[in-house]
Amino acid sequence: MFDCNFMNILITGGAGFIGSAVIRYLINETDHKILNVDKLTYAGNLESLATIANNSRYHFCQADISDQAHITQLFKQFQPDTVMHLAAESHVDRSISSSAEFIQTNIVGTFQLLEISRHYWENLPEEKQHLFRFHHISTDEVYGDLSDLSSELFTESTPYAPSSPYSASKASSDHLVRAWHRTYGLPVIITNCSNNYGPYHFPEKLIPLTILNALQGKKLPLYGNGEQIRDWLYVEDHARALYQVVTKAKAGSTYNIGGHNEQKNIDVVKNICTLLDELAPNKTLGIKSYKDLITFVPDRPGHDVRYAIDASKIKQELGWEPEENFQSGLRKTVLWYLNNQDWVNHILTGEYQKWIQQQYHPQ
Ligand code: NAD
Ligand code: DAU
Repeated sequence: MFDCNFMNILITGGAGFIGSAVIRYLINETDHKILNVDKLTYAGNLESLATIANNSRYHFCQADISDQAHITQLFKQFQPDTVMHLAAESHVDRSISSSAEFIQTNIVGTFQLLEISRHYWENLPEEKQHLFRFHHISTDEVYGDLSDLSSELFTESTPYAPSSPYSASKASSDHLVRAWHRTYGLPVIITNCSNNYGPYHFPEKLIPLTILNALQGKKLPLYGNGEQIRDWLYVEDHARALYQVVTKAKAGSTYNIGGHNEQKNIDVVKNICTLLDELAPNKTLGIKSYKDLITFVPDRPGHDVRYAIDASKIKQELGWEPEENFQSGLRKTVLWYLNNQDWVNHILTGEYQKWIQQQYHPQ
């Protein structure tokens, strides 16, 4: 008899920001066995898993999801009961300056993983076939954007209208996942989530970039007028939501996940500055507040104006809702960066530095 309390869960992209939060949650809060399959791109960092890396239920393999032979072999060896697919190129600005990797990993990589999962699932015993899930972790950016003058929210039936190469690649992968369900019966689930924030976030994204730039006395770039709106969710709330979905959702279903927490970019950055003024006051830069470092820079091409999620379906059907509020979550996040200088320094001396150099100071 198959016991769902002891599943083998194959996670792609587990060395990234959200994937590492999911693995920490699963190892700390459940009895499942985890195989983390990650290529370790610039965004993958095994140090984000240091707190659980020695647990006997955790295993890691460096592999590219597009490498069919290697991933097929890993499925054979690990015999997953469920797949949680998070591996992706995730940064909108990078997709604008160079989109090839986004097409390769987010579309071709997802296609390869679907095909491997399908062949594997078709050969499972009936009971395991019934319980198997291919959980595709996606984004609210597939829906395009909303007007900042409306109170409209993204629902699970909002039409797709992606704006950037990143969101178009994620929308493509969502379509592939649904096609594999309809055509082949593969038991898939899709979740579309809003902006995450919290510990171990790679400092190219707005919140960690602002914290680290401020601490180094660098400018805090705000794109355009800074009035764009994002719906922020603490990453540990997202990890908990994903576990609810992967263990409870019906095959073929979709859930939107969000924080009920719309914030203008300018307000997010000012909030971080206020927290830093309190927690790490600067006496050497000759500024009154970190807010003095805020700089308006040219807008992101095709910049989405507003994202906001209607998360009522996941609340009603699966009982999930966010636990962290933005003020306490942001404070925890700022404190985490202040207290984890090693993690930060390893990133600052690596690939991140080179990219920032090319992006903001091209020769
Ligand atoms: P991230 O960039 O922090 O991590 C991505 C991980 O995927 C890294 O560890 C990287 O090494 C790995 N990876 C990349 N290409 C790979 C490949 N070809 N093979 C194997 N591994 C590969 O991303 P994140 O912010 O943790 O996002 C995780 C997922 O959640 C993505 O699918 C993203 O689209 C989605 N998402 C992110 C957010 C957000 O706010 N960060 C919100 C909604 C949805
Ligand atoms: O909505 C979910 C998406 O959220 C995820 O699918 C993506 O993987 C994730 O990266 C995130 O995308 P965004 O583009 O919204 O996140 P980012 O942190 O890059 O930007 C947040 C907002 O801040 C956005 O409006 C652009 C703006 N911004 C960003 C940076 C890096 C600035 O004004 N200045 C900056 O320096």
